[in-house]
Amino acid sequence: MEGLRASSDLSSIHIPNSTRKTQFTRHKFLNFQFNPVPTSTLSRKTQSKSKLFTAMPSSPSFVSKPEPELEADSRAEKFDWYAHWYPVMPVCDLDKRAPRAKKVMGLDIVVWWDKNESSWRVFKDACPHRLAPLSEGRIDQWGRLQCVYHGWCFNGSGNCNFIPQAPPDGPPVCRSKRACVAVYPSTVHHDIVWFWPDTDPQYKDIILKKQPPFIPELDDPSYIKITGSRDLPYGYEVMIENLMDPAHVPYAHYGIMRTRKPKVKVDREGGSPVELSIKKLDIDGFVGDQGQFGVNKFIAPCITCAHSSPVIDHGDSAIADAEKQPSMQRRAGLIFFSIPISPGNSRLIWVIPINFRVWINKVVPRFINHWAVNKVLDSDLYLLHLEERKIMENESSNWQKACFVPTKSDAFVVGFRKWLHKYAGGQVDWRGNHGGALPPTPPREQLLDRYWSHVVNCSSCNSAYKGFSALEVILQFASLAFIGIAGATKHKTKTMVAMAVVCFACSKWLNQFIYKNFHFHDYDHAFR
Ligand code: FES
Ligand SMILES: [Fe+2]
Repeated sequence: MEGLRASSDLSSIHIPNSTRKTQFTRHKFLNFQFNPVPTSTLSRKTQSKSKLFTAMPSSPSFVSKPEPELEADSRAEKFDWYAHWYPVMPVCDLDKRAPRAKKVMGLDIVVWWDKNESSWRVFKDACPHRLAPLSEGRIDQWGRLQCVYHGWCFNGSGNCNFIPQAPPDGPPVCRSKRACVAVYPSTVHHDIVWFWPDTDPQYKDIILKKQPPFIPELDDPSYIKITGSRDLPYGYEVMIENLMDPAHVPYAHYGIMRTRKPKVKVDREGGSPVELSIKKLDIDGFVGDQGQFGVNKFIAPCITCAHSSPVIDHGDSAIADAEKQPSMQRRAGLIFFSIPISPGNSRLIWVIPINFRVWINKVVPRFINHWAVNKVLDSDLYLLHLEERKIMENESSNWQKACFVPTKSDAFVVGFRKWLHKYAGGQVDWRGNHGGALPPTPPREQLLDRYWSHVVNCSSCNSAYKGFSALEVILQFASLAFIGIAGATKHKTKTMVAMAVVCFACSKWLNQFIYKNFHFHDYDHAFR
């Protein structure tokens, strides 16, 4: 379970264990300043400079002046949600043989492999004929994307080059602009397909002017990268907050993630004061400091990175790579891509770059690591789903009024909210693709479903699921076969019956195993 250990190790990146007691004095409260955002409309005008920061408006003793570097800029630029690259899917989880539907920023897109140009394409997921989803189509023998409703075919530039119903000697309807599919600029960067969420032809070559953010570890061959993705039933804002909140780990993921033990244990879970601070915040995101435990970055709009300080190997574990290269520093990171899908829904792509235990992580299949990551995601999923609804119910999503964040452990969360309010209009700009209302809460089993949110989208888990399911059927057949042989031959009957029972029991156990790891794993915090 090296994958599991790897992710456990990474959890330690986040968990400082300062033993200083939290004191609820004025200087301990977070000195961030929010620009109030009108709840009825998302103004894109320059916001005025706020004069006071209130972490907790109802309590005057909590009012303090903003830290200079976090003070609102009266000429704050406006973040344009549609002028950035968005990750779509890791390449390893895409199938070149089939188009794949995705939703990002409320836009329905189809990703497909253009074998003629050897590149991934991202189109609007609507056929220009009668708007059937192209993602339900196929790639034909000439490498064109074919709409399976009436057979229209499109090349990688979005041009229609075949309409079966058009007579060859009739008007060239294929060449009409209206027969073209809208094409989004796309690229592959750090082994992930990215797209630019604007089909306007002026952005056709946007990649020449602006590239997706470069993350050095993801380009370093000495690192191995453990990648995966999952769709989650809570929104982008809540996802980013959660990923930048180390204080929740000992509690929400108790017993799942290994955390640094505090010197003085004040409870079973091992929580302690966490000294976080924002060092720089601007329209592009912020840099957060965890003291000796490293640096966190938020690169707007999607990326959060945590980098560990070098891990010192005290020789208490046999790390082949480190032994061979004693001077090598063991490093790990957590790179998260948080992708807005629609209000109340987001997609997480995680990449864990590690420069130690490389050979183990090369051998262990990804689905083993994914079991561990999915367990972590499940354990706070329900909390976050409901939390988001409470925030929305509370005075129309006025976060700073709804929440009380008195300690420095929330500094990154407050930093993100500050960025969101100061630069980005207070929330994702859905451009009318959605009304903004959250979808209803489905039954718990559906909410925590792993199959549709992950397994079908993951090439490794999908193969493992099929393999384990086939094994389950084989065991059931074997059980029946042993019974049949015992009845027909009357030879070694007891042995045959015993074998049948063993096979049957194994198939039942496997059935539960598959259900728990690939469908639904409930999580009861009260009994952990
Ligand atoms: S809707 Fe696509 S071909 Fe008719
Ligand atoms: Fe997976």
